[in-house]
Amino acid sequence: MLAKVTSFALVGLDGAAIDVEVDISRGLSSFVVVGLPDAAVQESRERVRAAIKNSGCRFPGQRITVNLAPADLRKEGPAYDLPIAVGIVAASGQIWPDLLSSVFVGELSLDGGVRHTNGVLPMISAAAQQGYEKAYVPREDAPEAALVPGIEIFPVSTVAELVSHLQGLKPIAPYTSEFDSNLLDQPRYGTDFRDVKGQEHVKRSLEVAAAGGHCVLMSGPPGAGKTLLARALPSILPKLTIDEALEITKIYSVSGMLPADTPLITERPFRAPHHTISHAGLVGGGHWPRPGEISLAHRGVLFLDELPEFGQHVLEVLRQPLEDKVVTISRATGTLTFPANFMLVAAMNPCPCGYYGDPVKECTCSPMMITRYRKRISGPLLDRIDIHVEVPRVEYDKLTDERLGEPSANVRTRVEKAREVQRQRFAGAAGGASGKMTLLSNADMGPAEVRERCRLDDAGKSLLRAAMSQLGMSARAFHRILKLARTIADLEGAAEIKTHHLAEAIQYRPRRQT
Ligand SMILES: Nc1ncnc2c1ncn2[C@@H]1O[C@H](COP(=O)(O)OP(=O)(O)OP(=O)(O)O)[C@@H](O)[C@H]1O
Ligand SMILES: [Mg+2]
Repeated sequence: MLAKVTSFALVGLDGAAIDVEVDISRGLSSFVVVGLPDAAVQESRERVRAAIKNSGCRFPGQRITVNLAPADLRKEGPAYDLPIAVGIVAASGQIWPDLLSSVFVGELSLDGGVRHTNGVLPMISAAAQQGYEKAYVPREDAPEAALVPGIEIFPVSTVAELVSHLQGLKPIAPYTSEFDSNLLDQPRYGTDFRDVKGQEHVKRSLEVAAAGGHCVLMSGPPGAGKTLLARALPSILPKLTIDEALEITKIYSVSGMLPADTPLITERPFRAPHHTISHAGLVGGGHWPRPGEISLAHRGVLFLDELPEFGQHVLEVLRQPLEDKVVTISRATGTLTFPANFMLVAAMNPCPCGYYGDPVKECTCSPMMITRYRKRISGPLLDRIDIHVEVPRVEYDKLTDERLGEPSANVRTRVEKAREVQRQRFAGAAGGASGKMTLLSNADMGPAEVRERCRLDDAGKSLLRAAMSQLGMSARAFHRILKLARTIADLEGAAEIKTHHLAEAIQYRPRRQT
């Protein structure tokens, strides 16, 4: 007999329908899986056999052929266990339901239990889009699947339970979502701006960065609070919209990094990869491409601590995603694209010992060592960082001050306002450096938008002329300053860029201009 069951595969962050066809015919007992399965899918034969037997069902001692179609898409992972098992039980006449509008996803254990599977959210949302009406998923993953509207979710704990449901003996109750949309309104972050003492100018620069989507480099001695400040940054970024939250959740679901008790990620991510990270770890890749750190930081913050320690190579690969906001990975079987729209925040010490320029502790590095240390960062990458800010040591008085600083929620309100101004300004227009990107924030502006949106009055022009000649700035630095000034004006709610906006923007450029 022949049975057909539908499952889903992951292609990047999308789901693709897979037909699991099971044929049982007379002949010597055998069990083969065809249709470009990888090793984990091949192993599923053993799990399925044991799971069916241990669930009180009969495992047919005949010739079993399982075909996974379309055959040109590589099938990987254990998510096909459950559909294969259902197909075998159906083809051997133990159940006879109408499975046409149903989708099955899940890994099996030998005792017939259905286990957690990665990527349930993207798979089920693709299934709903394609008009499937019912989805059978591991019980653990039901809250995640239930985020998708328009499809009925059945949580499955064991094969035995599913079989008696499909036989109509003991129906499984569909899972209804209990997601509380208030969670997005009150994001909870571990580090709040309020906890950072002093460093007012750094907080201000992070506010400007958050408001306009600019990249930041912090430089200062050890223990000055660079890491602490970077950690607090997600808390002042605008609240996530439900679509953004779903997008982030899909990335974490595919990576198998969704915490068990968190069906939906409601906070902006903060990722701080170590400087020994590999190329694939940072941008994504591997035998079967997985999102890298830059995609895990999508819509949040990517923090590169001790920037000069990162290899040149690793930093160079950031240039393309920083501009395109996506990363494209080429494979023998085609290309995959993962989103990678993150804010880059980097930190470094001013020299190898960390105390160059510190008023208290003396620096022990030779000028040569300092030059070599700074040279390790690629010039083109540094150039893409709009805001350079120094983080000096905090004085004792400030550190012991009992008063709390301004809470992140207040800063966030200002940032959200400034972002709204930008949203209206660009209204989803295409532009930017490539001329094709959707503009979201001031940092995305290309030369054409800068010319149009960042006009200066006469006082501004003469200030900028003076700064350019005194600081020896390049044309690129000139554009950066104008974009920053635009953001600073937006934060203030000013339509025109004034001299004081410009003056603050000039401060954020490094002294040695590129
Ligand atoms: N401004 C501050 N307000 C409150 N606590 C601070 C501040 N600066 C530093 N600290 C305390 O010092 C600890 C170390 O700071 P942090 O790790 O951010 O330093 P850092 O500048 O990143 O140093 P390094 O260069 O060694 O990485 C923090 O975890 C925090 O407890
Ligand atoms: Mg640090």
